[in-house]
Amino acid sequence: MAISRASIDRVIQAADIVGLVGDYVSLKKKGINWEACCPFHEEKTPSFKVNPVKGIYKCFGCGKGGDSISFMMDVDSLSYVEAIRSLARRFNVELEETESDFREEQIKQSERDSLQIAANFAQEFFVSNLHETEEGRSIGMAYFLERGLRPDVIKAFGLGYARDEWDALLQEAEKKQYSRELLEKAGLILINEETHKTYDRFRGRITFPIYNVSGKVMAWGARMLGKDKNQPKYINSPESILFDKSNALYGLFQAKNAVRHSDMCYLTEGYMDVIAMHQAGVENTVASSGTSLTEGQIRLIGRFTKNLTLLYDGDKAGIKASLRGIDMILAAGLNVRAVVLPDGHDPDSYAKDYGSAALQDYLKSHIRDFISFKAELAAEESASDPIKKAELLESILESISLVPDAVRRSVFLAEAARIFRMPEDTLHESLNLRVFNRNKRSRNQSETYSPTNQTGQNPSPVPVVDEKVKLNEADSLILELENALVRNLVLFGEMKIEEEFTVAKYILEEVADVNFQSELTKKVFEEYSDRHKEGHDVSPSYFLHHPEETLKRSVVDLCAGSYHLSHNWAGKFNIVIPEEEDLLAASLFKVILQLKRNHILAEIRLLEARMSSENEDEDEMVLLVEISKLKKKEIEFSGKLGSVINH
Ligand code: CTP
Ligand code: MN
Repeated sequence: MAISRASIDRVIQAADIVGLVGDYVSLKKKGINWEACCPFHEEKTPSFKVNPVKGIYKCFGCGKGGDSISFMMDVDSLSYVEAIRSLARRFNVELEETESDFREEQIKQSERDSLQIAANFAQEFFVSNLHETEEGRSIGMAYFLERGLRPDVIKAFGLGYARDEWDALLQEAEKKQYSRELLEKAGLILINEETHKTYDRFRGRITFPIYNVSGKVMAWGARMLGKDKNQPKYINSPESILFDKSNALYGLFQAKNAVRHSDMCYLTEGYMDVIAMHQAGVENTVASSGTSLTEGQIRLIGRFTKNLTLLYDGDKAGIKASLRGIDMILAAGLNVRAVVLPDGHDPDSYAKDYGSAALQDYLKSHIRDFISFKAELAAEESASDPIKKAELLESILESISLVPDAVRRSVFLAEAARIFRMPEDTLHESLNLRVFNRNKRSRNQSETYSPTNQTGQNPSPVPVVDEKVKLNEADSLILELENALVRNLVLFGEMKIEEEFTVAKYILEEVADVNFQSELTKKVFEEYSDRHKEGHDVSPSYFLHHPEETLKRSVVDLCAGSYHLSHNWAGKFNIVIPEEEDLLAASLFKVILQLKRNHILAEIRLLEARMSSENEDEDEMVLLVEISKLKKKEIEFSGKLGSVINH
């Protein structure tokens, strides 16, 4: 990155979070915090809190939280760097950029700027062709009107027309002194390698501009008119500095406010579907234009909502795309539902045949969670065929196993058990094995951490795919204990228990041999102890304003407000979690013991699951010996804990 860490720190220090947030919502002081109704979701009683001392905010309703940088990213949909620049301007901090990076950045920036100018020119050209040329009106506009598009929608989506000439755009561009090189980089013209003839990429087609989140044109999809079998129906812009296809979503710019407001986003197949939905009053719709759905696109929607609804054609290809989409969305930690339109219809044709109200009704009454969706798909054939039924159940369990959060997995499992009228326990074991096997495969591959959240109320703001083994309730308990340690380390690490002996030193020594389950815990502990070894202090603000956005938000999640262990845990497992003021070495010691004991229990459960898996590669004797060793160790820990608890 081009901006130096030191100047980012200055921005963080200068950014007055109360003043900043106060520009968007009206804050009221309450104790040390400020409160307001959350700017990110609809609410009547305030659950959005700003802590000026820590420089963080957190909504206890929708879960959004972070520091001033995160706030700018959320509220104005900015990238990390854009957010820093915007804060720097606002709070008069001069950003220091490292020399070489700076120049590189400048070159990139100026290249991007000139491409953007060329793209803006072309967009204006296509639009004016549509409205102001005879050909545009009689062919392009006539087509749009015949398909029933309203003028306001044509305008909102920037629809245009590329004339049926070899070089209409090129000629106009040259008049305005745009270089051919630039036009080629922007994907607007093509050069024939042999003849060196230069010509327009889009000819005799209507144009659908693809905007980025902030409304700048990056690329176009251009649809042919009529039916020429020798031509592709759509020609799309190639990738460029402006256009990264796998991270772009058609219609997001027009949809984003509605998505935020309704906290849901429909995902359709094509340009016309998005436009038809919008025109029918369902503005929270986007499409993964020209590509099949990518992780980047899911992440992009995830910035606006965690709830996606797939809306694909009821034909074979549409269903197949839905099934693939479901698994990807689940793996990204988002919620997914699906609606299938009647065979042969897409949103556009449905709205045209039956009207907007009917389309809206249809969507409402045919929306399904992914389990029912899959179950209904195969309902007919699996009703009479037990083998088909088993396959269906397996495919549903496979989807559920992709969900990164253990608690949510259990909810889905209960739903599957209900639909298939099977005991939950039976399904649980099979699900656990799937989760275990998948994680075993990915265990050593990935260095990403997952912002885990087991407090039950706040969904993690940024979903991460690779979650570690979390098999059941007891594993959730482990995560909760790990979270408690992270929280204590971050907030109170530098507090002294005795002279020269800090909370951090104590925790780090005690857990040196613990193999943490959550990647977040691992990452925080590693970085903490690295900084310690280098002789640095680690104040709370180090992690609360960490440059890694995902990490920071997870830490803020854990550290915002006062922490309450869900009561059922406390009762059920006789657990003590130190509260902010209750930071005695003794209670931390209990947490650490509990954590160690629960890790052993988790290992035992895994081994037992393997014993019963009937996998021929497993040597039962070896497993049994392992298990009995662990059980001994567990008893030892229970003993220690018992004496601590009974004191
Ligand atoms: N698509 C593409 N290139 C093609 C065909 C399709 O990029 N040669 C993409 C476009 O994004 C298109 C989407 O796939 O919008 C869905 O295709 P289709 O349903 O055929 O297009 P519609 O946009 O629905 O067009 P129409 O309703 O006008 O037939
Ligand atoms: Mn269509």
